[in-house]
Amino acid sequence: MMKIGSIINGKERNEQNRKTLDINNPYNHETVGTIALASSDDLNDAVESSFDTFHHKMKAMPAHKRGDILRKAADLLEENADDFVQTITAEAGKPIKHSQAEVQRSVQILRFASEQAKNINGEVIPMDAAIGGEHRMGLVTRKALGVVGAITPFNFPLNLSLHKLAPAIAAGNTIVFKPAEKTPISAYKLTKLLHNAGLPEGALNLVLGTGEETGDPLVKHEKVHKISFTGSLPVGKIIQKTAGFKKITLELGSNSPNIIFEDATIKEAATELVKGAFAFSGQVCISAQRIYVQKAIYDTFLEEYTQLTNALQLGDPFDVETDIGPMISEDEAKRAKQWIDDAVEKGAKIETGGERNGSTLTPTIMTNVDKNMKIIAEEVFAPIVSVIPFDTEEEVIEFANDSIYGLQAGVFTKDIDRAIRVADRLEVGGVWINEISTYRQDNHPYGGVKQSGIGREGVKYAVEDMTEMKFIGIKLKG
Ligand code: SIN
Repeated sequence: MMKIGSIINGKERNEQNRKTLDINNPYNHETVGTIALASSDDLNDAVESSFDTFHHKMKAMPAHKRGDILRKAADLLEENADDFVQTITAEAGKPIKHSQAEVQRSVQILRFASEQAKNINGEVIPMDAAIGGEHRMGLVTRKALGVVGAITPFNFPLNLSLHKLAPAIAAGNTIVFKPAEKTPISAYKLTKLLHNAGLPEGALNLVLGTGEETGDPLVKHEKVHKISFTGSLPVGKIIQKTAGFKKITLELGSNSPNIIFEDATIKEAATELVKGAFAFSGQVCISAQRIYVQKAIYDTFLEEYTQLTNALQLGDPFDVETDIGPMISEDEAKRAKQWIDDAVEKGAKIETGGERNGSTLTPTIMTNVDKNMKIIAEEVFAPIVSVIPFDTEEEVIEFANDSIYGLQAGVFTKDIDRAIRVADRLEVGGVWINEISTYRQDNHPYGGVKQSGIGREGVKYAVEDMTEMKFIGIKLKG
């Protein structure tokens, strides 16, 4: 069992006298590691180290070198993939096949970032477009920001961390990395891997601490230039209020709608939406939460969908056959079960599932729901999905948009005109046509509208958000 601490300027802080926190596997509750908690002083040291390394090393590091570090990191991650897969499953309880997919995607993120580091382009402005602007030249360059505070969630401890770390490095920033308290071991191994790939130690400081001791002061620190956060809406709101003049990227929640029109292939939509609603027990920001089905195919869809859901295999996340493992904690499973009970009291029906055993909740399909129930109005972040009938295109657009969130949506139809019409009117950051809302690749823009967030990730877009434009004007003589 590992005892690990924060890594500040390359030195690990795990002395005996520190407060500790055990990391337990959410399925069998075995302790898989212990962390020595960081204090607010450690956080301050981490920011100073990142600030200093930005000014003395990273600022001057050429793009080809940043690209090389990221490429080497991708190679190292590929070589050590199995160790990361086991770590994610041990600390997050993620079924092993999903941990494998997460690590493969993470290798790709590093490769995308390695290429992007060498493609941060500027612009030439036609200055003579303005009267009196003749004999002038205008250049727009992109500069690194400085210190990026990366605050990451438990659900994709590697992938979502790399969506912040890799673009930050590609752009030439330094980082203070505060991972979720429940999944610090992946973050610790990732930090070491990036240092081994050649990243200056002070360019990435890992702080393993609580939100109060380390998260809050990171967000408020004056030497931090940007906060990139993925997590819940309540925390996102606090960050927005307290970050001051920093740039912020917030990737928050969603209650993602998926719309199935009567001409869709029912079997295909149902099969994909089983993955879309229940992968990693629904603990995915773009998990399919509301499935709207046109009335003509509603009964057939529901029957097929329930059958496929009942065939999912529950169990130990380390078993390669397991589809559904535990939720991140028993408390979270209890919270989700309460939301089901609350909906049932208000008239909803459980088609299948709804049973909790420790931290595992059986995949749950609900019908007869309405928009005042938490399972519809809020982000469930659990293996709970609602199937809702609709009549017309106009009506379903209204249902889908009736949400405080707007991250990703899915639309299933063979009618291309309708697909584009609906995609255009959905109030979300991204729409998939004939694909589930839960599908994400790491090179497209990803982020939300409304209360789903601010800014975009997806390597190229995160690099844009992690740089600042700088204008240089030249008055030409002669
Ligand atoms: C998320 O939960 O926001 C990330 C989903 C993904 O990267 O697949």
